[in-house]
Amino acid sequence: MSLSPIEWKDDHVVILDQQKLPHETLFEKLTTIEQVWDAITYLKVRGAPAIGIVAAYGLVLWARAKQSNTLELFLDEFHKQRDYLASSRPTAVNLFWAIDRMVRKVNTAKSVVEAKTFALQEALDIQAEDEETCRKIGEFGYELFEDGDTLLTICNAGGIATARYGTALAPFYIANEKGTTLNAFACETRPVLQGSRLTAWELQQIGTDVTLITDNMAAHVLKTKHIAAVIVGADRIAANGDSANKIGTYGLALLAKAHDVPFYVAAPYSTIDTDTKSGDDIPIEERAAEEITHLSGKAIAPEGTKVFNPAFDVTPHEFITGIITEHGVIKGNYLEQLTHGAKLKEKVTAEV
Ligand code: MRU
Repeated sequence: MSLSPIEWKDDHVVILDQQKLPHETLFEKLTTIEQVWDAITYLKVRGAPAIGIVAAYGLVLWARAKQSNTLELFLDEFHKQRDYLASSRPTAVNLFWAIDRMVRKVNTAKSVVEAKTFALQEALDIQAEDEETCRKIGEFGYELFEDGDTLLTICNAGGIATARYGTALAPFYIANEKGTTLNAFACETRPVLQGSRLTAWELQQIGTDVTLITDNMAAHVLKTKHIAAVIVGADRIAANGDSANKIGTYGLALLAKAHDVPFYVAAPYSTIDTDTKSGDDIPIEERAAEEITHLSGKAIAPEGTKVFNPAFDVTPHEFITGIITEHGVIKGNYLEQLTHGAKLKEKVTAEV
């Protein structure tokens, strides 16, 4: 798919508005950090890596517009803008990973002009690296499956949720390139329907055979449809391997276990947060009640209905067959391997 979900253009960023899909393929120009904050909060840009990328560009937009007499003042304000973007969504750690990386980079500048240049270069690097990373995830993931396999997924962890290729959907891109077949079942993903609106759309775009189901059909599908594996993305993976992803993922993991179907999490190292010890420490975003009580603006529940709307849940590591990363598939002792991997990540970041 040549369509790029986020693109830097000279002095602004262009995003694919994911709220408009699948009815409209609409690109929107963002020129201020406030517009970036809105785009993240209101799910125009969503998916952990994509949120990180667009947030990095948000800081670039702010930096370019800022007139500052001293570097000290500029950096002080830059840190505040970092905190502002950090308040847009709480769960995807890629957001914090990206904006903190931006802060570390501009901190090394010797002048305001240099800080602005560094900021843009760092954001471009974050995006370029994510594309490469997702491709590797796709290649490692692809190796786990046979030609003709059918995989079950939830939400959208595709190209539009990253720089390109996606994480959980990356193996489908690689299969296409190799002329082999991977088929998909996609859970519609209530309440915001990322599965039906985005995954069904994206896989159709690349010619993958995709069958849409409602979330409550997953058990029946796992029992009757010869699903080779469940593959999902992640918003944050704790040090022990517990993984937060779109609400409904944990249920799929339990069902996969009951049906003896492998359950894979596909995510880059930027999603691994070794500072968070276990899934219990991952902040879970709760979103507006209207996402549940309304569908396309129309009420589908009585007025005043009490609602609980967590956007994510946490799958305990013991239900995860493997975590597919850009450095390979991690299995077994997640705590040991993720901690070692985090050191790898630190090394990569320090070299930047
Ligand atoms: O609320 P969303 O749509 O941002 O949730 C996204 C997910 O849960 C994805 O699976 C995850 O961010 C990985 S995207 C490659």
